[in-house]
Amino acid sequence: MATTRGTWAYRDRFGDRFGRTYFRRFGPGVCSSIGIGTYLGDPTDEVDDRYEAALATALDHGINHVDTAVNYRHGRSERVVGRALERASVDRDAVVVATKGGFVPFDGDRPADPAAYVRERFVETGLVDPSDLARGCHCIAPNFVEAMLDRSLSNLGVDAVDCYYVHNPETQLEIRDREAVYDRLEAAFERLERRRAAGDLYGYGVATWEAFRVSADHEKHLSLPEILARAEAAADRVGNDDSGFLAVQLPFNVVMADAFTVDSQPTPDGDGRTSVLERAHEAGVHVVASASLAQGDLAVGEGMPSEIDAALAGDTRAQRAINFARSAPGVTTALVGASRTTHVEENVAAGTFDPLGARTFDAVFR
Ligand SMILES: NC(=O)c1ccc[n+]([C@@H]2O[C@H](COP(=O)([O-])OP(=O)(O)OC[C@H]3O[C@@H](n4cnc5c(N)ncnc54)[C@H](OP(=O)(O)O)[C@@H]3O)[C@@H](O)[C@H]2O)c1
Repeated sequence: MATTRGTWAYRDRFGDRFGRTYFRRFGPGVCSSIGIGTYLGDPTDEVDDRYEAALATALDHGINHVDTAVNYRHGRSERVVGRALERASVDRDAVVVATKGGFVPFDGDRPADPAAYVRERFVETGLVDPSDLARGCHCIAPNFVEAMLDRSLSNLGVDAVDCYYVHNPETQLEIRDREAVYDRLEAAFERLERRRAAGDLYGYGVATWEAFRVSADHEKHLSLPEILARAEAAADRVGNDDSGFLAVQLPFNVVMADAFTVDSQPTPDGDGRTSVLERAHEAGVHVVASASLAQGDLAVGEGMPSEIDAALAGDTRAQRAINFARSAPGVTTALVGASRTTHVEENVAAGTFDPLGARTFDAVFR
């Protein structure tokens, strides 16, 4: 697990290379405000090898926040994260390792008949009740989430993860009402609180795509304060002093800036509405931005308005897009998916420039 001592030692080793607020508080210590993601790419040995080199380069050059999921590239992404942790010249306790469970994973390759695979490996073995499945592939029942945590620990080859996200819980809104989804999240959190007490994870959260970016009347909306209340209730039941709810993940970049621009969440007094970035900040919950490059588009020049581009620091489009995401008030880390070492080198160098201050970010964006 990442520790205070391990992450601060990592910061001492690399901090001088970077600009203001490159390292930020996270969990028991600090992490880089640029992280590396592992979502995209074909499930092949060749891409595995590329990712392993890219991840090791990241860890050896100042990125100590790694994001993956049990289903990414059919389990291959978690396994290459494990290999990179072995290969890099950093200790495990210097690195924030985050993963997710919620989508039923395949194992190495996409099976010829995915529905039959899910039925045989997950339903007939009793791991998944068909009534818990949304879209034929998504489940957040406690037994399943716990089994996926165990699978992730094994794939990653680690004793514990630093942040365990319930993956895209809004997918469950396709088959049940909002109250029932909160109930199911609370049951999953209770299991995660038990695993936290056992030392298998430092904290947990939810990784989302739409839930926190859309307004309250949208079918995919979830309320962050309600989810936090459910985490508190789960911690209470387990007898943990505080809830281990640590972070939310959501897409954030200049063409998907709803987390900043849409007042999707209730204010603490319940009288008004505010953005999820603001609400998370008020609640002391970290926000981890995904898709910082809009899945690569912003690196090739599609989408960034020229007046915003002009205000951002960075030598390349990718660097300026990354600096936009990690400048947003309330964002702890901007994740950038990268399976090429050349991309990692370019991306980590974005951190040598200062991010925009909160007031400038506001002014530039408006
Ligand atoms: N719902 C969720 O929970 C969710 C959803 C999406 C993503 N995520 C997480 O967030 C991470 C980041 O999002 P993402 O990977 O979807 O999108 P992204 O970070 O916006 O973009 C990744 C793409 O950009 C390319 N790229 C990276 N650096 C580049 C550079 N300097 N120049 C040109 N191209 C560059 C990568 O190519 P190469 O691979 O060739 O380097 C990859 O194709 C994911 O990896 C994942 O960990 C979570």
